[in-house]
Amino acid sequence: MTITRRNFLASTAAATLMPNISIAQARRVLRARTGLQHIAPEGFPETDIWGYEGGVPGPVIRVPQGRKVSRKFFNDLPQGSSIHWHGIRIENAMDGVVGLTQEAVAPGDSFDYDFTVPDAGTYWYHPHNKTWEQMARGLYGALIVEESNPPEVDQDEIFLIDDWRLTQEAEIDESFGQLMDWSHGGRIGNWITVNGSAPGDHAVRQHERLRLRLVNVANSRIFNLEVEGLQGWVVALDGQPLDEPFTANQLTLAPAQRADLIVDVTAAAGEKGALVMHDRGNTFRLASFHVDGVARPSRLKESQSLPQNPVPALGDLQTARRVDLLMEGGAMGRMREAMMAGKMQSMSQLSSKGQFWAFNGAVGLPDVPLLEAEKGETIIIRIINDTAFPHAMHLHGFHFRKIEPNGEQGPLRDTLLVERDERAEIAFVADNPGDWLLHCHMLEHTAAGMQTWIKVI
Ligand code: C2O
Ligand code: CU
Repeated sequence: MTITRRNFLASTAAATLMPNISIAQARRVLRARTGLQHIAPEGFPETDIWGYEGGVPGPVIRVPQGRKVSRKFFNDLPQGSSIHWHGIRIENAMDGVVGLTQEAVAPGDSFDYDFTVPDAGTYWYHPHNKTWEQMARGLYGALIVEESNPPEVDQDEIFLIDDWRLTQEAEIDESFGQLMDWSHGGRIGNWITVNGSAPGDHAVRQHERLRLRLVNVANSRIFNLEVEGLQGWVVALDGQPLDEPFTANQLTLAPAQRADLIVDVTAAAGEKGALVMHDRGNTFRLASFHVDGVARPSRLKESQSLPQNPVPALGDLQTARRVDLLMEGGAMGRMREAMMAGKMQSMSQLSSKGQFWAFNGAVGLPDVPLLEAEKGETIIIRIINDTAFPHAMHLHGFHFRKIEPNGEQGPLRDTLLVERDERAEIAFVADNPGDWLLHCHMLEHTAAGMQTWIKVI
């Protein structure tokens, strides 16, 4: 059987592909709890994880554009938690940020999430409390918002790519909060999974058209990806369709970023295509597409681009409200002191409290927002990376565009990789009232100081 997107939704075969999908969705409950899952390489035992409905990843939530998502979140974890719906332009009260938009849902308690999804595309959900620990234990899932008129493809697959730090016994390494990670590049692991298990095999046919939804759900690892034996286009980034799709070959995915690819299987029958990652001169296969037969005699014609989402166009950039965000600190950085808890503190005082990074001279979530905007204003934030590391800057509640020095506007994004020593300007329309977090999505960096927020009234 050919799995098209449509019969995928209808068929019971979905249950075998997405073991986690059915029951919880029917009951509209999302329960975070402990579980046991084989995530390590073959021959290793199962791992104690934390997962939504007890699995990694959690259930796929698929919903038509413009509709409501309602989930009663039950917390059966030993820690307070919450759910953040990453990339959704959401009502502020549903954004799930503990300490800014809600209190932590205590163990044994529940919280009702109820929101509409204005934009079609590839999104995801994860906790927003002790995220550096809770995501590393397996709490995340995909949230797919369906276009009303999606491009025709033969297969539509989600790849949630994670980086685990496991012990030799395949247990989750309990080295959470390690200062080395927090002051450097974050918790980098030693084992990569796709959808919670070892990289696997996918059966495809020559000239089949695939939509691949890639999501980086790792704490801090940046993935350098490439497709082989597959040819096509990157059609969306961070959920938002590109005006001009570009050829899919090499692709960088920073933590929390997504890319939607539409590719045709060009490898011949009997051969293998692949999604690979490059890491310091080595190449690892994240997925194999083994070509079993021929779907059609030649490739389909070029895919139409995806329909645009109702994201407001930027206003006049000359008169836009501007603010600077200076990122400092970390290992090999120049920062000597910063404000924390209302006091100027030296780097050694900060590091004794596990804090290493500052935004505009302040460590951690400040009392006052980075800026206050009136609803509808166009805002430009100039992000200045004065650290020795790249950072994956995520703004809640909005999609923004990077403005190049020549004035050119980049694609809509919710997470931007800002390289060391880079200055990047981002612009967005502050059309959504509330308190919105702006932070580095390398979760150890968030926890070690890289957070601020904006207020829209
Ligand atoms: Cu993916 Cu602050 O979130
Ligand atoms: Cu960072």
